[in-house]
Amino acid sequence: MDRFIIHGPTRLAGELAVSGAKNAVLPLMAAALLTRGESVVSNVPDLQDVRFFTTILEGLGARCTLDGHELSIDTSNLAGFEAPYDLVRKMRASVYVLGPLLASQGRARVSLPGGCAWGPRPVNLHLEGLRALGAKLELNEGYIEGESLAGLHGGRYRFEPSSVGATANVLMGAVLARGESLLENCAVEPEVTQLVEALIASGAKIEGIGTTTLQIQGVDELQPIRRRVIADRIEAGTLMAGVALAGGRVRLTGVDPVHLRPVTAVLQDMQIRIDEDADALTVTAGERPQPVEVVTRPYPGFPTDMQAQIMAACAVATGTSFMTETIYPDRFTHVAELRRLGADIRLDGAQATIFGVERLQGAPVMATDLRASAALVLAGVAAEGETVINRVYHIDRGYERIEERLCSLGARIERVRG
Ligand code: EPZ
Repeated sequence: MDRFIIHGPTRLAGELAVSGAKNAVLPLMAAALLTRGESVVSNVPDLQDVRFFTTILEGLGARCTLDGHELSIDTSNLAGFEAPYDLVRKMRASVYVLGPLLASQGRARVSLPGGCAWGPRPVNLHLEGLRALGAKLELNEGYIEGESLAGLHGGRYRFEPSSVGATANVLMGAVLARGESLLENCAVEPEVTQLVEALIASGAKIEGIGTTTLQIQGVDELQPIRRRVIADRIEAGTLMAGVALAGGRVRLTGVDPVHLRPVTAVLQDMQIRIDEDADALTVTAGERPQPVEVVTRPYPGFPTDMQAQIMAACAVATGTSFMTETIYPDRFTHVAELRRLGADIRLDGAQATIFGVERLQGAPVMATDLRASAALVLAGVAAEGETVINRVYHIDRGYERIEERLCSLGARIERVRG
C-alpha cells in the first residue's frame, strides 16, 4: 500500500486547474444505461472510482473507453442487470445503476453497498422512491432484487432527508416511466443539477431544474448522454482549505465560484481572502486563520465533504472553533489522526470543538476515508517536520494525483510505493 512522506511546513503558491467532479461523473455514467448508443462524457477525472465504475458498467454489457479525460460508454449491447457484491462493496455509488436498470431493463440485482469508515450509509430512500414508481424490490442475501417487467409508472415521492444519491437514482427511474412523476425535497447539489441538465439534453422532460421539486413527464427513449463534467467543488475547496492552513496564495482555474460559495463564506469568516473571477478563484492567506463556527448542511449549505479539511484549518486558528456535522454524525475518523499531529479537538457527539494551536507537528498517521485523508495531507504540508500517511489508496479514489498537484504549489510530498 502506497504511503506519503511529507515534509513541512511549506506555504502554497501558484496556479492549478481543478479536475472534473467525481460526484458528477458517476451519476452521468449511470445515466448512460438509460440510453442505447455511445454516450461521451468529457473532463472526466482520472480516479480509481471512475475506473471502477467502468468495470461495473462493463459487467452489464456496456463497452467503456477512457481516453485521457474523455470517457465513452457504448450501451448498444447492454444485456446484464447485476452489480455484484465484490464490485459494489468497494464503491457504494454503484447503487446508482439500480434506477437505470429498472427503467431500461425491467430488472436489477444490485448488492447492498454496506457501510463505510464513518457509519451506516442506508439506501431506504432509493428503494422507497423506486417503489413509488412501481418497482418490485426485495432484499435477499445482501442483494437488492428488483423487477419492473411492465416498466415503471409515474409516481410521487418526498425524500426525507434530502439525499443526493436517492434523488439521482429515482430521477433516472422516472425519466423513462409511463406518465408523470413528482419528486419533492430533492437534493440540489450542483452534481444533481448537472445530471438533470444532461437528461434534458438527451430528451428527458423535467421541470424544476435547480429546485427541490422536480416534475417529470416520462418519455419512451433517451438519446445518448453528451456532457462535460463540472469542476470538482470539493477538490477546489480542499485546495482552498490547504491555503488557509499552510498560508500562501493560489489561483484555481476552471471552477464555478457559485458552487464554492458555501466554502468561500466560511473561509472569509476565517479572514482568508478570496477573489472571484468568472471561472477562477484566488485564495490568499497570511497569518493563522481566525476561528469559525460551521454546521454542515445539504447544498447550498456548507458541504459535509469539506468538514474534515476545514477542521484541519481550524486546528491552527487563533482561537476556538466549533463544527457540527448534521449529515453524518459519525464523520470524525480524522479527529484522532489530527490529534496525533498536535491538534487539540474535543468531540461531543456530532459537535467538535477545536482549540487552535500555533503549529501542528509531523507524525505518522493513517488515512481512513477519502476526505479525512485529504485533510491529513493538508495538515502534513503545514506541520513542522515529517508526516507519514499510510493507506493513501483512500485518497486516490477521489483525488487525481493529489501529491503532484500540491507539489506543483510548493509542497514537499513523496509517494512511496508499498
Ligand atoms: C453523496 O453521497 C456523495 N457521494 C458523498 O460524497 C456526500 O458526502 C453525500 O452525497 C452528502 O453530500 C457521491 O455523490 C458519490 P446522501 P450519498 O444520500 O448520495 C441519508 C465523497 O466523499 N440517507 O445525500 O450517499 C444519509 O445517511 C462522498 O465524495 C438515508 O437516510 O449521500 C445521510 O444522512 C462521501 N437514506 C443523508 O441522507 C438513503 O436512502 C445524505 O446522504 C440515503 C441517504
